[in-house]
Amino acid sequence: MQVIIVENKEQIAQEAFKVLKSLIDKKPDAVLGLATGSSPIGLYENLIKAYNESQLSFKDVKTVNLDEYVGIDENHSQSYQTFMREHLFDHIDIQLKNTFIPNGNAEDLNKECARYESMLESMHVDLQVLGIGSNAHIGFNEPNTPFNSTTHVVNLAQQTREDNARFFDSIDEVPKQAITMGISSILKAKKILLLASSIDKANAIKQMIQGPINEQVPASVLQNHDDVVVIIDKDAASEL
Ligand code: GLP
Repeated sequence: MQVIIVENKEQIAQEAFKVLKSLIDKKPDAVLGLATGSSPIGLYENLIKAYNESQLSFKDVKTVNLDEYVGIDENHSQSYQTFMREHLFDHIDIQLKNTFIPNGNAEDLNKECARYESMLESMHVDLQVLGIGSNAHIGFNEPNTPFNSTTHVVNLAQQTREDNARFFDSIDEVPKQAITMGISSILKAKKILLLASSIDKANAIKQMIQGPINEQVPASVLQNHDDVVVIIDKDAASEL
């Protein structure tokens, strides 16, 4: 793992932007694995800025997202569909038909998971952007998710629902389930870029980088991947 420690969120966003820009420069039809949450927002802002300045085009880029809540409308303000449109897709020249997010309202959720997984297999993700939960989840793969898991429906951990409650009117409104790429789906990406800031992530970051590799710490599996870049601020690095 390559670990880059910077001062603050703005620098995380800049460093992450450089990694994506160099990929898209080399491969204009790259497949990007994208994440939601606050961690990648600054990166997305930099991508939008570069597009506005004609430094980057996304017209041949394809994207696959890690996860989506189950049971909220895709136009709900907190759905990950809405998040991606508001924070990235509506502001760049990507073709919406080239953007893929699991359908959390599918009638048969297991079928939807199988469909998404086989789509991922055919797409070969060049670079997967990840955040990390305070319990070291990646995507929505909560502690004790098997490392060989593929796209699946997950019951969200209480900690995760509490962490995400700030985006909803109350904790009761936070969905109880989500569809997420599995750990083995995530590891198939050629390169992984994990972004984290703040003291809340310090323990998860320490366990991810220095702890034993085990299923109680989902992000620890990244030690097994041969091309992971971790970009964190000083606070998130404070327990290393
Ligand atoms: C959610 C997402 C994860 C994300 C995590 C951390 O649970 N499903 O993909 O990594 O939040 O979010 P944040 O970046 O806001 O700390």
